[in-house]
Amino acid sequence: MTKFIIEGGTALQGSLAVKGAKNSMLPIMAAAVLSSSTEDIVLQNIPSIFDMHVMTEILRSLGAKVKFADHTLRINVRDLHGFTIPEALMREMRSSIFLMGPLLARFGKVGVTYPGGCSIGPRPIDLHFKGLEALGAKISEEGDFIIASAPRLQGTEIHLDYPSVGATENLIMAAVLAQGKTTVNNAAQEPEIVDLQNFLNAMGADVRGAGTETLRIQGVESVGRCTHRIIPDRIVAGTYLMAAAITGGELLLQDIIPSHLDAVVAKMKEAGVLFQVAESSIKVTESKLKAVETLCTLPYPGFPTDLQAPMMALLTLAQGKSKITESVFEARFRHAEELNRLQAKIAVQGRTAYIQGVEKLFGAEVEATDLRAGAALILAGLAAEGQTVVHNIKYIDRGYENIENDLQKLGAKITRI
Ligand code: EPZ
Repeated sequence: MTKFIIEGGTALQGSLAVKGAKNSMLPIMAAAVLSSSTEDIVLQNIPSIFDMHVMTEILRSLGAKVKFADHTLRINVRDLHGFTIPEALMREMRSSIFLMGPLLARFGKVGVTYPGGCSIGPRPIDLHFKGLEALGAKISEEGDFIIASAPRLQGTEIHLDYPSVGATENLIMAAVLAQGKTTVNNAAQEPEIVDLQNFLNAMGADVRGAGTETLRIQGVESVGRCTHRIIPDRIVAGTYLMAAAITGGELLLQDIIPSHLDAVVAKMKEAGVLFQVAESSIKVTESKLKAVETLCTLPYPGFPTDLQAPMMALLTLAQGKSKITESVFEARFRHAEELNRLQAKIAVQGRTAYIQGVEKLFGAEVEATDLRAGAALILAGLAAEGQTVVHNIKYIDRGYENIENDLQKLGAKITRI
């Protein structure tokens, strides 16, 4: 099993450009299925990460032609014939559930297996089903196998019980080719949903309201193709800003959309990190870490749950008592016990973690339990005295392209073996 060996204690210095967002790229790759064009759909600023390769395999298994080179994807769905996603690929990546809406819209039928939970919680998909049924889909389950069918989806009014990102995206994609108008209330407002809207409209769809809690989708007969540049990854950006802060370094992050990180920058400022923010860049200049009385993860524009683990790593060295509440996922604190192996002082009670700042962390062998927990352990290892070994780094490769190369460029002593 591959692992990272990290020698801590070096303050990161330098500048980095951030690539396209995993959580924008995945639904947009799925949305390509809606196209009636015989020409390639071109997606630019694509990170070469594991989840992109899995989604590529899924599209190929359905008959699409997909080519990836120079951070650009060319997807051709002219010969798309399949509407059942292979079980092994479904299990490989939960985001394959994003294909339900577009496959149902294109073929009137879709077969998937329940994607299953992961280490951050059971992650049900009931809101996806409720919305698709409201659009007229008939959903039947035989064990883990799920078949949804609808001769033609009918536009309707949907109210989401929770602003689920995935459910919002699935329902937008299903509604694009439905008959008539669909309204989605209490929709997720993440920037990745705005990016999906822009992609779909560039192909000829009629989606409005992304970034607000009410979406309006006017069904159209068909959509064509487009070339689209994926927005920068705000979670990767936030991770690197925290890597600079935890090592007391200086980092200029370029090619980002600073407004996507408003809640993150505000909380890091509260934790004693100093910034310079410009049009398309953010610079960490100095950090004198101090505890944050309370941090609660929330749907956008609140503090993102995907940066909760990296922020917890940062706060282990912030003088005083910090408190983090994880309101989005049921079980997203498994990194706490791993951070404690580095001599952090974290106590978890249900959805709340209490962090007592310490002077120093000390290198140890730790295990990544999910993508962002892995990133948090790298950050802690960069700051810890001595050597840290992070195991199970396959999780990290799901969302960070060659993270060790980026960090080495900034002076970090990290090697993959
Ligand atoms: C997306 O997951 C992201 N993944 C996650 O990023 C991110 O943490 C999450 O949104 C929240 O921002 C992708 O975009 C590929 P949700 P998703 O549906 O869509 C509950 C990462 O590290 N829920 O907004 O699965 C669910 O259990 C990943 O990049 C239901 O109850 O998130 C959770 O508690 C991790 N029923 C909450 O809603 C449903 O039908 C938020 O889930 C759907 C969700």
